[in-house]
Amino acid sequence: MPLSLNQHLLPGRNFVGGEWCSAADDRTVAVVDPATEEAFATAPDSGAADALRAVDAAHAAFPAWRKTPAKQRAQIIKRWNDLVVSHQEDLGRLISSEQGKPLAEAKGEVLYAASYIEWFAEEATRADGDVIAAPVQGRRMLALREPVGVIAAITPWNFPAAMIARKIAPALAAGCTVVCKPAEDTPLTSLALVKLAQEAGVPPGVLNIVTASRDRAAEVVDVWLDDARVRKITFTGSTPVGKHLARRSAGTLKKLSLELGGNAPFIVFDDADLDAAVDGLMAAKFRNGGQTCVSPNRIYVQDKVHDAFVDKLAARVGALVVGPATDPAAQIGPMINARAVDKIERHVQDALSRGARVVVGGQRVRNAQCTGPNYYAPTVLVNADASMQCSCEETFGPVAPVTRFDTEADVVEAANATPFGLAAYFYSNDVRRIWRLADALETGIVGVNEGALAAEAAPFGGVKDSGYGREGSRHGLDEYMHIKYVCQGQLD
Ligand code: SIN
Repeated sequence: MPLSLNQHLLPGRNFVGGEWCSAADDRTVAVVDPATEEAFATAPDSGAADALRAVDAAHAAFPAWRKTPAKQRAQIIKRWNDLVVSHQEDLGRLISSEQGKPLAEAKGEVLYAASYIEWFAEEATRADGDVIAAPVQGRRMLALREPVGVIAAITPWNFPAAMIARKIAPALAAGCTVVCKPAEDTPLTSLALVKLAQEAGVPPGVLNIVTASRDRAAEVVDVWLDDARVRKITFTGSTPVGKHLARRSAGTLKKLSLELGGNAPFIVFDDADLDAAVDGLMAAKFRNGGQTCVSPNRIYVQDKVHDAFVDKLAARVGALVVGPATDPAAQIGPMINARAVDKIERHVQDALSRGARVVVGGQRVRNAQCTGPNYYAPTVLVNADASMQCSCEETFGPVAPVTRFDTEADVVEAANATPFGLAAYFYSNDVRRIWRLADALETGIVGVNEGALAAEAAPFGGVKDSGYGREGSRHGLDEYMHIKYVCQGQLD
């Protein structure tokens, strides 16, 4: 039995220039419940003409929106936050239906999304510039902060509400106008959020959204990449796509924020509090079924505590309840689609063929509760090593491969031996080691004795092949602004 949905939040159409409209050629794409693979709604399958209309609208709306006083913009964004919070249940149901995560987790994501909207409503009023102490007599020198212009937001399926919120809220706060394309698998949550933004009073043309199928997504995005009126792209997704966006947008030298793949190490030293480390790993690894960019992908445990840690971890992982969002007990939902489960299975098979051993899990789940093909059992592997696919690429699923290590120097070298650099975690009670590691790990985010890192007040983003730009925190607003230097002379 699917979750019941609030039809008011299912406009089923694009929103362009303040109007809800079908794709120019009336094409639609089915939205599928990953728990059953059954289609339960449709969204527009937009193409180049729709993408262009969205830019026209955003470009036309920009001059008035950038001049709207920050306080007024902030009030509208704050109303958006209030509407999102008051629709927590409805939005949670939408997220669960199209993305598959358990309902309690989906409702948690709604509040997580709202926290960014509220944060940036407040930041809008603090986008101050500087008055510079002039090095020359008779001059006034200022650094003013200005919105960059029309921005294109391309968002992923794993957090259909939160990723939209942390891109669009700062853009609106900065005075930018927006064109957005949500992920092919999860168009409905974003359309619902835009509906609430409209109700909150975001003026026509300021926020535009077009949805598209996997086959036509590139057609939409290419229009935005080539259009000089789009001044910034903000993207969360894979590293190959991020690199493509960087290359293709070079023609119009757009500003970019790229939140790309991760391959996070999670290190447990023998001086750590093991129970805290297991708690941290459970929170970081199994959130959203492991379908999270900051999910630990490589777990390194120091020799002396390895076996005790694995025992504790296996007991917790074996107790996780796998099931559809409709089951209130479910902790791990279905993976997003068949390709995702195939990849997980490939990684586990590859690891086993290279000497890893399954401690718990290690196979798909299909039973009276889990009737669809997209469930994978929460899994712990031991004897993982650097040669395995699961150590080199994001598995993006509920698989925890554990590698034994000997010295701090060895583990730092192993942790950094990846092109990626989004998040890293470690557990230790040695204060000197803590600062050595925090310095040595080549990532944009480091969790020290903490597995739950995400917060609206924190700068989220990576280094190396994990991209650049930061989301959340006061730095998140800078991504949507540039600095204009104004110098007035002849003042004496
Ligand atoms: C992501 O997976 O890209 C976002 C995760 C988060 O916000 O913690």
